[in-house]
Amino acid sequence: MINKKAVLVTRPEGDLSEANFKIMEEELAELPDGHVRLQVEHLSIDAFIRTTLDARDGHHGSMALDSPVIALGTARVLESKFDGLNQGDAVFGPLGAQSYVQLPGEMFRVLDESDQPARAYLGALGMTTGLTAYSGMINVGEVAQGDVIVVSAAAGAVGSIACQIGKIKGATVIGIAGGAHKCEYLLNEIGCDFAIDYKADDIGAKLDEYAPDGVNLFFDSVGGELLDLVLDRLAMAARVVICGAISQYNHLENVTGPSLYLRVAERNSSMRGFTVDYYMSEFPKMESDISGWLNDGSLKMPEQVEEGIDNFPKALCMLFNGGHTGKLLVAP
Ligand SMILES: NC(=O)c1ccc[n+]([C@@H]2O[C@H](COP(=O)([O-])OP(=O)(O)OC[C@H]3O[C@@H](n4cnc5c(N)ncnc54)[C@H](OP(=O)(O)O)[C@@H]3O)[C@@H](O)[C@H]2O)c1
Repeated sequence: MINKKAVLVTRPEGDLSEANFKIMEEELAELPDGHVRLQVEHLSIDAFIRTTLDARDGHHGSMALDSPVIALGTARVLESKFDGLNQGDAVFGPLGAQSYVQLPGEMFRVLDESDQPARAYLGALGMTTGLTAYSGMINVGEVAQGDVIVVSAAAGAVGSIACQIGKIKGATVIGIAGGAHKCEYLLNEIGCDFAIDYKADDIGAKLDEYAPDGVNLFFDSVGGELLDLVLDRLAMAARVVICGAISQYNHLENVTGPSLYLRVAERNSSMRGFTVDYYMSEFPKMESDISGWLNDGSLKMPEQVEEGIDNFPKALCMLFNGGHTGKLLVAP
């Protein structure tokens, strides 16, 4: 059986490029005891992957050259030499960018497919997507009825869910994304009240128009200049949630920080970051709430699926050049 994998061959210097990767093939060895042979079904294209490609050992570590790119995903068990996993089971775990994988069975979680398809555990129920949006909006941001919320990277995976949680909780939601197509998506598919195209609009003027009394909650995944523009428009007792800073991931050695952080003090506000795994003990409740919203139609997770492991490098670059809406997946 031949495994096809997307391998990191050179570390990106600045912007990520497809040329940093190579597609390679290898024959699978005999399955060792305690291991499972998996057919990868969907890979989650996540922003954190970019930070693992640098030589510096950041929050998510640094991956070795000539290895399959780090990626979470869902897979089907083809063969099992591990008690507790059986042929046909759907699992979630750290699969890497490849079509087949053999790893210790204890690394994987069996998925219950009775309510949602397995790939939902990468999207709406995914740790790096739905559970991240839930943690940031509810546990950290304490979104409340009547809040005026701004969400950046709003048309992406985390952002799409964060906006919808804002609507479910009775807030006015302003989504910020790049391009007219993404703004239409935010208004027509996601249910945002307002959308700002950061590539074409005067962001400050639009924020003043849509949030004349200030912003109560900013769910930020972008950082950089955008963070300052919103800090300058905080309402009193506002909350700024630092989910990520994707505008900085291509140059983490030289991050542009907020210069208007004194607004946090002047407006008696808070700015708080989080990592989703900090809230792990609450994942069962989060999954239950999100499943309920999926089932009653108040939440949806639009997906964009790129076919073939050959397209993994292109998909990863897409996170940074604006080529997708909703949850980006690769089906090897
Ligand atoms: N705190 C946590 O535990 C945690 C967990 C998971 C993810 N995150 C963070 O959540 C954020 C979203 O991740 P995701 O996986 O859901 O990705 P995503 O939002 O699906 O894709 C990233 C989006 O970021 C936007 N973007 C890229 N470069 C940008 C720039 N320079 N300026 C403004 N926007 C830019 C792009 O949209 P446009 O076309 O609109 O530019 C792109 O669609 C990331 O910051 C990630 O690090 C945090």
